[in-house]
Amino acid sequence: MAETVIINEVGLRDGLQNQPEPVSTADKARLARALVDAGVRWLEPVSFVHPKAVPQMADAAELTEQLPAGEGLHYTALVPNLKGYQRARDAGYPTVGLVVSTTDSFNQRNLNMSLDETERACQEIIEAARADGIHTRTYISGAFACPYDGPVPVDQTLALTHRMIEAGSEEIAIADTIGAGNPQQMKDIMAPLVRAWGAERFFVHLHDTRGMALAMAWAACDLGIRRFDASVGGLGGCPFAPGATGNVATEDLVYMLESCGLDTGISVQGLREAVRIAEEATGKPLGGRILQWIASQEEQGRKVDVG
Ligand code: COA
Ligand code: ZN
Repeated sequence: MAETVIINEVGLRDGLQNQPEPVSTADKARLARALVDAGVRWLEPVSFVHPKAVPQMADAAELTEQLPAGEGLHYTALVPNLKGYQRARDAGYPTVGLVVSTTDSFNQRNLNMSLDETERACQEIIEAARADGIHTRTYISGAFACPYDGPVPVDQTLALTHRMIEAGSEEIAIADTIGAGNPQQMKDIMAPLVRAWGAERFFVHLHDTRGMALAMAWAACDLGIRRFDASVGGLGGCPFAPGATGNVATEDLVYMLESCGLDTGISVQGLREAVRIAEEATGKPLGGRILQWIASQEEQGRKVDVG
């Protein structure tokens, strides 16, 4: 049997958080339904941040009530502080995503806290979550480069990751928030982490700003990483990270992994409907490379079998 890879869909959160035009709660719920219909089982649909900081996430609690429910669905909400954690807990999330960036500048711009203060806030959330029986995943944001300070030394990312694990974070997501890394750097970061803590503990979160995302995903896969974030249609960006473009497109990542013999449980054809809804909701043309290829084949009357 093919080995399973978990793909955590973050389009609704990372993808929609910086859209200039608001997307309605009903459209977000429709997109979530289409994603689940395509086989997506892991989703990060919202963040509980200040609605003035990110107006697109103001409907987080309302959207949560409209999400598909059922066995085998794994939902995470991103939380920046204890207040966000409490809102996520009250909305019923079994897992929360915490965020800490590698530099003072990025933490300051994103969360209005220094790196030290953010680490302390994460510690507080981890302790509260442990008492409430809620699972934690910590995003090491700007793991390859900071949008304000530039390249981040590997040792800085490794040290922060170790500190967060020692603080009790159950899972870690290594995030190339601005899409500045390359496959060799992915190996330099992931190899020692996998050696120290095992591959199961890690997610990899990629943006495709410079076209490196799939190559980096494969480098991580080679080291045993089987958990990835991705965003339908390649939606994405961060309002507090200038230059960050879309996440790796879910459909491209699914196509690559499936064609390499891994099992994502997600249908590329099924994702086409989700991409269509996302395009309609954002008013933007979206879609990874594989969808362009499928469309071109179909225009020529050829049938494609991509799952
Ligand atoms: N959700 C809603 N309201 C929040 C909140 C949260 N998570 N955290 C704080 N607040 C409220 C406080 O209750 C307080 O309200 P009051 O003025 O009515 O008393 C007010 O915001 C200020 O609180 P403070 O703790 O000083 O927050 P801040 O102004 O320093 O902002 C964040 C900090 C983290 C809340 C804000 O920077 C933020 O939401 N950033 C989002 C970053 C993001 O989404 N990045 C992309 C994903 S990584
Ligand atoms: Zn991101």
